[in-house]
This record gives sequence, C-alpha cells and structure tokens, in this order.
Amino acid sequence: MNHDFLWGGAVAAHQVEGGYDAGGKGLNVSDVLTAGSHTRPRLITPELNRDCFYPNHEAIDFYHRYREDIALFKEMGFKCFRTSISWARIFPKVDETEPNEEGLRFYDGVFDELLENGIEPIITLSHFEMPYYLVENYGGWSNRKLVDFFVRFAKVCFERFHHKVKYWMTFNEINNQANYKSDLSVFTNSGIIFKDGQDKEALMYQAAHYELVASARAVQIAHEINPAIQVGCMMAMTPIYPYSCNPDDMMGSVGANHKRFWFVDVHARGRYPNYMLNFFDRKKFELDITAADLEDLGGGKVDYIGLSYYMSFAAKGRKENINLDYDEAKDLCDNPHIQKTQWGWPVDPVGLRYTLNWLYDHYQLPLFIVENGFGAIDKLEDDNTCHDLYRQEYLRKHIEQMKLAIEVDGVPVLGYTVWGCIDCVSFSTGEMKKRYGFIYVDKGDDGSGTGNRYKKDSFYWYQQVIASNGESL
Ligand code: BG6
Repeated sequence: MNHDFLWGGAVAAHQVEGGYDAGGKGLNVSDVLTAGSHTRPRLITPELNRDCFYPNHEAIDFYHRYREDIALFKEMGFKCFRTSISWARIFPKVDETEPNEEGLRFYDGVFDELLENGIEPIITLSHFEMPYYLVENYGGWSNRKLVDFFVRFAKVCFERFHHKVKYWMTFNEINNQANYKSDLSVFTNSGIIFKDGQDKEALMYQAAHYELVASARAVQIAHEINPAIQVGCMMAMTPIYPYSCNPDDMMGSVGANHKRFWFVDVHARGRYPNYMLNFFDRKKFELDITAADLEDLGGGKVDYIGLSYYMSFAAKGRKENINLDYDEAKDLCDNPHIQKTQWGWPVDPVGLRYTLNWLYDHYQLPLFIVENGFGAIDKLEDDNTCHDLYRQEYLRKHIEQMKLAIEVDGVPVLGYTVWGCIDCVSFSTGEMKKRYGFIYVDKGDDGSGTGNRYKKDSFYWYQQVIASNGESL
C-alpha cells in the first residue's frame, strides 16, 4: 500500500450536523423527512408537522461538537475525512444574490480544524441534499434552471475552499435514482415529488441529464479556479451478478448493470453510451438534451471515480431481450452464496474486488472508496464500552479484498473512508440504531439521549489498521 494512501471515515452533512435552522440555513430535503424503520418508510411531509419526528433536525449535533469529533478522528489516525456541504447553509433559498457568509464560515471552521489536525477534507457538493425551496418552487431537478443554481453553488465553494480541499465529488450516489420507483431515492437525489399521471421513468432520465450537465460544468469551473483540484463522481456500486451461467441470466445482468451504471459512462467518458441512446429512442422519450449540453459533458470529464460499496445483487434473465427494461423489483433475486445483515443488505467482500476491477477496466481512472461499512445494532455496556467485533470482521474482509485489487490486480485506489465513522442518522430509515461508527453516540431513534461520544472496540482496531497502513487487520 502506498504510504500516502488516504485512510479515513465518511459522513454527510445532513446525517450528522443538526442545527437545521442555525446560522441562517434554509430547509433542505432531508429536513422534511420523518423517521422510519426497516419496515416503515420515511415520509416526505411538504409542511413540517409538529406531530412528526424529524431525525435530521438535530442529528448528532456535529454543528456544535465538530471539534470534539475531529479530536477523536485524529486519535484514530485519520488521514482524511469525507463530509458534504449543505447547499441550504450557503444558499438557503438559492436565488439570493449573495451566499450566506455564516454558512461559509461554518465550513471554514470545520476544514481548518481538520487541517490543523493533519486530516484532509474530502468534500461532496450534494449528498442527498438541496434546498427544499427548489422542490417547492422549481420541481427539483426536473427543471433546467437547477443547472445554473448548482453551478453557482459549486463555484462559490471552489472559490472559497480550493486551498483547503483538493478532492471533491459532485453528486453522491447519483445512480440511486435508477430505481425510479423508489420515491425516497428520487426525492433525495433529485428533489422530485411525482404527480399523478407523470412518466416517472422519463422524468428521472431528464433530471439525471441536468445533474450530469451541472456536474460537467462544475468540473470545468473547478479546473479553471485551481488546476490542482480533483473532481470525482460518486457511484453506488452494487454489482449485479448473473444468477447462474445460463446465458439468459448473463444477459439479464448486462441489462441490470447498464441500468445502474450508465451514469458513470457519462461522467467518465463525457458522452452517453450507445445502449442509452438506443434506449431513449426505443422508449420515445422526448428529453431536453441540447448540443451545448453534449459539449459540456465532453469538456467536464471527472478526474477520478468515487464509489460506495456495501453489497452485491444477483439477476435472473428472461427469454426476451430486455436490456434497460430490466425491472429490479421483478428480476433481482437472492444470491444463495451470500448472507444478509439485520437490515437485509447482502454481505459480499469479494464483490468489492470485483467492483474495483470492473471500474478500472472500463474507465482507467483512479478510484476512491468513499463509503463501506456495517450497519448494526450495538450495545453500550454499563462501563461505556461497546464490543463490536462483527464490524471489525466485516471491514477486515473488505479491506483484504481491496488490498488484493490494489496489490495483485494493480488497480489504483486513492483511499478508503469507512461510512458513518461516528454513529449518525441512517439515510434510508432515519434511525439511530442502525449504527456504523467506531464512535458510539448516545442518541436514540426518538432523539433522546445525552449525545455523548464513546469509543467502541472497533475504534482501537481501526487505529491499528491505519498505523500499520493496512498490514495489521
Ligand atoms: C449510502 C449513502 O447509500 O449508504 C449514505 O451515501 C447512507 O448517505 C449509507 O447513510 C448507509 O445507508 P443507511 O440507509 O444504512 O444509512
């Protein structure tokens, strides 16, 4: 492993910060999401409702406690820390003429504290966040105007922070919305609340197109401001294996992977792949894609590929050739070789090595594993210890596979940041009890608790991993 390999942890602004109305911040999409559970979906409430609990409003109060948290990251030996900038802290309504100085100052404080502690900030511009004002007044990313709004936000961030932040990403897990039947994914990726009679699928492709154009323009602006800035995309990498060696299953998995991963083609190659163009024709989608957009895409290719990796899936094929008409609800199936977590997420460490090879074979760009982790119910003992051996086990197996990809297969990987390095609000369920951290935060699903931080056993384990540069697992 290179001596400059970036070991660290990752979170997102809305899942840790709290302070949802502090410092002039406007509401963002996560602020109108109620708490849910594995079996009860989070609700989108267009008006804040006193009878509902909104877990992101307070989250773990990183907004006030970030110095304490960064001291703990330093103690673990973090080389880097990934978080995001809350767009609604910088432009609460988005159409203001000037950014909110108090919001910018908050991030100055966080980045300075990290750098003083020898930790490099890794920043996502939009991690499932946008000002809620954009949802209400513009229909989210279904509206082309968002391209300019986003580019302005990105420019303000690059200009202000380019001396402090080298590695940026534009949109977190932009491909989550490939599953356009999930209201939560489309809302958090694109700020769209579907209306009756709308063609959800076409709308998702339109929104994704605007996001890809906005990302490409942001990449170009970043390079103009400071050529040393590296801007990546960020993909949720869930490879979809063929269920068997039956050729139909193989073709089923090709279609399933096309449907999830065409986004990275556009980000990395600067153009739509042929299978997408054919698909748009076949579906007779009338998408607003202009010649200027295509030029922007070509000029704004990303510098690296950021990825999250938690799981893999398997697909069964059908007799007819479906390609992108592949339907995840119908065609995904359980992989009999793989166990699942308490939240039903399949655990497949070898899939990480496969993913890294697949991405590098296709795009020949450096990769950055910016999320990998294990959500579990942890028990805080009476003496404030927490024996989370299962988490160490999960991470160890994944790091072993990452090392094989790097050392045996020759894949260039810039770094590895463990998701939810400090317990935070679960994105999909809004729970606190789905914990990923090395640091236990005393906070319950209903917001109760002191908010105090305690080191789990995995804290000391990861400290060793980093100190030995991945030798001691
Ligand atoms: C990724 C997201 O999909 O998975 C994070 O980028 C999220 O925001 C993480 O928290 C884990 O998912 P969850 O639903 O368990 O919090």
